[in-house]
Amino acid sequence: MRDRIAFGRLWEAGALIMLGLGVAALPAAAAEKDLTDKGRMLVEKNCARCHAIGKEGASAHPEAPPFRTLSSRYPIDDLAESLAEGIVSGHPDMPIFVFGPTDVEAIITYLKSIQDQPAPKPSE
Ligand code: HEC
Repeated sequence: MRDRIAFGRLWEAGALIMLGLGVAALPAAAAEKDLTDKGRMLVEKNCARCHAIGKEGASAHPEAPPFRTLSSRYPIDDLAESLAEGIVSGHPDMPIFVFGPTDVEAIITYLKSIQDQPAPKPSE
């Protein structure tokens, strides 16, 4: 009787470990691609009518910087906060957006994937 309980516990622990390994083994690259795709979808929907969102092309709104040039102004990661709290660019044409954490991560991942140049190092 005691043995059966112990065996049950062991099996349970084993199953949990397998589950953990399975999740960890998910190819990181695939997850990253999903995030990038989601980010592109989000900016296509919300930002593309003003900003150029791809690796080339001009912005529809003449004053809106193409997204691939953003990293020449500041580290893309710095945008995460603005996206979560509502971007206020100080420009009346740009609406205020507030995104949830997963959406923010997706947008940031996408933006990083299209930058012309690597982000400048913070405080240099
Ligand atoms: C209705 C047009 C419009 C839409 C939609 C729009 N933007 Fe903008 N955005 C602008 C304009 C115009 C500027 C330039 C503002 C300026 O120079 O003050 C700008 C500037 C920016 C900047 C640079 C701010 C800075 O301080 O340098 C970022 C980052 C940005 N937008 C992100 C976004 C994101 C992300 C979205 C979608 C979620 C978006 N924008 C949607 C018009 C828009």
